[in-house]
Amino acid sequence: MAKQLYIETVGCQMNMLDSELVVASLRKAGYTLVETPAKADTILFNTCSVRQHAEDKIYSALGRLKHAKKHNPNKIIGVLGCMAQKDQRLIFERAPYVDLIVGPGQLHQIPELIEKIGAGAGPQMEVSLDRKAGTRGEIEQSFESYDPLRDPAMRPTPFQAFVRIMIGCDKFCTYCIVPSVRGPEQSRPAAHILAEARQLAEEGCREITLLGQTVDSYRNAADGRTWRLSDLLAALQEIEGLERIKFVTNYPKDMTDDLLSAVHELGKVSPYLHVPAQSGSNRILQRMKRGYTVEDYREMLARIRERVPEAAVTSDFIVGFSGDTEEDFDQTIDLVRESRFKNSFIFKYSERPGTKGASVYPDDVAQDVKKRRNNELLAIQNAISEEDNQPLIGRQVEVLVEGPSKNARRQADGGDVLQLVGRTHCDRIVVFDGNARQIGRLLDVAIYDANSFTLFGSVVTAHVGPEVYRL
Ligand code: 5AD
Ligand code: SF4
Repeated sequence: MAKQLYIETVGCQMNMLDSELVVASLRKAGYTLVETPAKADTILFNTCSVRQHAEDKIYSALGRLKHAKKHNPNKIIGVLGCMAQKDQRLIFERAPYVDLIVGPGQLHQIPELIEKIGAGAGPQMEVSLDRKAGTRGEIEQSFESYDPLRDPAMRPTPFQAFVRIMIGCDKFCTYCIVPSVRGPEQSRPAAHILAEARQLAEEGCREITLLGQTVDSYRNAADGRTWRLSDLLAALQEIEGLERIKFVTNYPKDMTDDLLSAVHELGKVSPYLHVPAQSGSNRILQRMKRGYTVEDYREMLARIRERVPEAAVTSDFIVGFSGDTEEDFDQTIDLVRESRFKNSFIFKYSERPGTKGASVYPDDVAQDVKKRRNNELLAIQNAISEEDNQPLIGRQVEVLVEGPSKNARRQADGGDVLQLVGRTHCDRIVVFDGNARQIGRLLDVAIYDANSFTLFGSVVTAHVGPEVYRL
C-alpha cells in the first residue's frame, strides 16, 4: 500500500526547494502526498530559525500532534531544516514523540532514516557539525546538499523552479543564525547548475530563480577559470526554452559592475535586484557587522540606477536591533525615503541564541517600540510603492502568467472568466481576467490601475483596432 506523506514548509525559498527534493526522494520510495496531517502516516515539518516566531509556530504544530501520535504510535513525525540543526536533541526533549530530526545538510538521508524508524530502530537524528567542531573541510563535508532529484509537482508552478547555486554563508552578521544552521559558504560547480537548468527547460520550465544566501558572492573555479554570477547568467541566457532568470538574495558589497552589466545586457535576466540594506545607520550597520556603511550602500544604489535604470530594487530592514535609537531609526527612514525601493520587507529584531548578537548585545528595544517602527517604516515604504506604480497605469507590461488569483473563478457573461495573477520581468504582481489556457504563457497586459502591491490590467488581444458595424 502507498505510504502517505504530509509536509509543511515554512521560511525562505531555499526551504521550498529543499521540500521539493525531499518529496521527490520519498515519492521514489513509494510515498504519495496528502493534504492534511490526519491522512498521513508520515508528517514532516521543514523549519526556519531566522526569527523566534517561526520556531514557536512549529513547536505549537508539534504540540497539536501529541494526541494523534498517542492514538497511532506508528505515525512518523519529523522535524527538518534549520530548526532541526539549531535545536537538535532539544526537540526530542520538548516533543518526545518526535521520531526524526534532520538538518539541512542531511536531507538526502531521509528515506533511509524513515525506513530505519519503521523497522523499529527508534528515533533518529542526523545533523551537521557545529561550525567550530572541526576543520573547514570537515564542516563543509558535513553540509552535503543534493540537488539533481526534482519533483515538478512540488514547484511554485510547473513552469517556475528554484535552482540552488550556493549553500551556506560566511558573513556572520551578528543578528543572523543562518551561518550556523546552513554551514560554510560553498558555490556549486557551474556545470552542475547549467545541466540542471537545461533539464528544467526541457521539462517546460520557463523561469528559474537562482538561490543563495549571498547569491552575488558566487564564485567557482573549474577548468582553469573562475565563474562569477555574471558568467553563470551569460551561460544560462543561452538555454533554449528558458525565458526568465532571477536571482536572490544579494549582498550589497558584492553587487559588482560586471553583474550589473550582465543584468542590463542579458535579455532573459530579470531587472529585479533584492539587496537588503538592514539599516540606514552606520552605528547599527557596524554592530550588525554588515561590512558596509550607508554611504557604500548609497553608492551601490547609484551604480544600479545608472547601469540598470530599468531595475526594480527591493530591500530588507530590521527594526529594533540592539542599540537602535530613534536617531538611528530616523536614518533608516531617510534611506527608505530616498532609495525608492519597489518594496521592502521589514522585520522586528528577534534575538537568536547562538549568534554574536545574542551573546554580546542586549535585546534592549521594547517590543512595542519595534512594532511601532515596523508599522511606520512599512507605511512609508507602501506609500512610495504606490506612488512609483502610478506611472505604469496606461502602459503595457509583459507578464508570465502564474495561475488563478486568490479570489479567482467568478462567473461572467457566457462563460468562465478566470482572474489570473502573473508577474512582470521586474517582479511586479499583475492581476487580470483571462482563461486557464493562458497559465504558463507570457502575455501583454495593459495596466489600468495600481496600488502598493498590485497592478490591475487587461490582456491585450491580438486583433487590435475597433471594429465598425454598420446597420
Ligand atoms: N531578527 C529579525 N530579522 C532577521 N533577519 C535575519 N535575522 C533576523 C533576526 N534575528 C531578516 C534580515 C534578512 C531576512 C531574510 O530576515 O532582514 O535579510
Ligand atoms: Fe545572515 Fe548576513 Fe549571511 Fe544574510 S549575509 S544569511 S543576513 S549572515
